[in-house]
Amino acid sequence: MRSFTTCSFLAVCLLSTGMRSQTQPSSDTTWWKHAVIYEIYPRSFADSNGDGVGDLNGIALHLDYLQRLGVDAIWIAPMYPSPQVDFGYDISDYENVDPHYGTLADMDRLIEQAGKHNIRVILDMVLNHTSDKHKWFMESASSRTNPQHDWYVWNDGIPANGPNVTAYQKRFEHEGKVPPNNWVSLFGGSAWEWVPAVHQFYYHDFYKQQPDLNWRNPAVEKACFDAMRFWLDRGVAGFRLDAVPTLFEDPKLRDNPVLGGLNAQGDPRVSDLYTNNLPEVHDVIRRMRAMVTKYPGDRVLIGETYLPNTLELDKWYGGAAHNELQLPMDMLVGFGEGAKLSAPYFRRYIGEVEKEIHGSQPLLVFDNHDNARSIDRFGDGVHNVEIAKLIATMLFTARATAMTYYGAEIGMPTTTPTRKEDVRDPIGVTGWPKEKGRDGERTPMQWTPGPQAGFSTNPHTWLPIAPDWKTVNVETETADPHSLLNWYKQLIELRRSNPALHDGGMMMLLKDDADVLAYVRTAPQGSAPVIVAINMSSGPKTVTLDLAGTGIDVKSARTLAATDASLMKAGSLKSVALPAYSAWVAAVE
Ligand code: NOJ
Repeated sequence: MRSFTTCSFLAVCLLSTGMRSQTQPSSDTTWWKHAVIYEIYPRSFADSNGDGVGDLNGIALHLDYLQRLGVDAIWIAPMYPSPQVDFGYDISDYENVDPHYGTLADMDRLIEQAGKHNIRVILDMVLNHTSDKHKWFMESASSRTNPQHDWYVWNDGIPANGPNVTAYQKRFEHEGKVPPNNWVSLFGGSAWEWVPAVHQFYYHDFYKQQPDLNWRNPAVEKACFDAMRFWLDRGVAGFRLDAVPTLFEDPKLRDNPVLGGLNAQGDPRVSDLYTNNLPEVHDVIRRMRAMVTKYPGDRVLIGETYLPNTLELDKWYGGAAHNELQLPMDMLVGFGEGAKLSAPYFRRYIGEVEKEIHGSQPLLVFDNHDNARSIDRFGDGVHNVEIAKLIATMLFTARATAMTYYGAEIGMPTTTPTRKEDVRDPIGVTGWPKEKGRDGERTPMQWTPGPQAGFSTNPHTWLPIAPDWKTVNVETETADPHSLLNWYKQLIELRRSNPALHDGGMMMLLKDDADVLAYVRTAPQGSAPVIVAINMSSGPKTVTLDLAGTGIDVKSARTLAATDASLMKAGSLKSVALPAYSAWVAAVE
């Protein structure tokens, strides 16, 4: 799927090699530069009222847990009123809360209570499209002369008997007209939907119930910025901007290049050259940044930015001007084409942002509600927990803001439906069996070994609880010192308290090693640098961590955290024996 993978159409992901000297320590106290941001899918986190669906008050009940884990901010996936075709990503009112999740008063209370726990609230802002039940679209679709008609992307279509019309286009014929080009919806079918009342097609990159807003109309920008201000005024710390590279489409409506074959939804495979990441979007983002910057407290703009390479990512920061998003997500590290448990892979991409984003702050992310969980994508099926600890080590010790997803900290698995009739995500219904949808990564949070994993009192939860809940849950893992959950806590605490991990620069070590990813976090004056070594292979590895040329004077190394007891006493960097799938974090003294 285009949005949820990267580099799919490119052999152009630039090659880079391991590197040495890069960033310097900083003493910047801006909160989001050091933050752990925790994504909550509100349907699935905690159900406070027993209807089987998670809600805002359920989140409030677990703020103590989030604070103990070390979370600085929660990003809540859309909780606005919505017909729930795409579980909230089809918004019908930007300035309220869906009754499934609570009320506006609940949200105000959540923001306040979270604040008392030193946790900021970040909302999901969907600007590419609305629900077809939003009043803007209902007006727009009511007549061609309606003042809001031009708020969405409309087209008369072309004659069905025209010379270049394809058989595929003819499948969508209405009143002798077919869609104007070959653009396909990411969620299946033509991206154009006919509306008889206006005798026109409208464009939708996602479901037909998610019509795309027309960002070439300044009234759209004003209305969307007003919606953002509504929440900024209520105290949210910023936004995660959904599908933000897709705001604009080619004004000439040129056909996307054909790639050949069919995709999982059975549509012709085409690239997204004319429907994604158009340069015009950056003007909007600069104005948005200027708007948000007027608010006190370092409000933050985070982008859902699946991009083909790090040079493109840099543009989303505003390059050297640093005047666009503070934190476009780096999807190349965690979700890039070919992402696998491989030291060279991670060295390349984690290293690239050190050089290619003009000193901006990287945002690392390995899990979200659209992709199979990282424990399954990187795991080998046997050592999944050990491997999840390695991913967590990168996430929390590299020089980056860290974004995680509910359940990753306990190693919740991806539980993909096995029968079509159980699927809730519409793309899993239309794409079955090739595309089974995203239910697997959205199952209810596992809190306890008790009924419904402590998620709900209702046995009919909106998605089934994953079968391993009796062992994989917060309560059980809290009590186990070697659990994944306690590894998360330990790393997050270290990242907060250790100056090098908190503020340090970063240099890659072992630039050619096939199995071990290693780097040093250089320290602000007066504190010790920290070395991180991660053996990603299934066998033991002994490495020499040579700091010559880094300017760091090494006398000894003191273990701060290790996944294996044998590493607790490691003292020399000349010969570090790393067991299979192990991670070592040590202060250089
Ligand atoms: C990206 C969101 O993460 C995904 O869940 C949603 O379906 C699409 N954007 C459309 O809003």
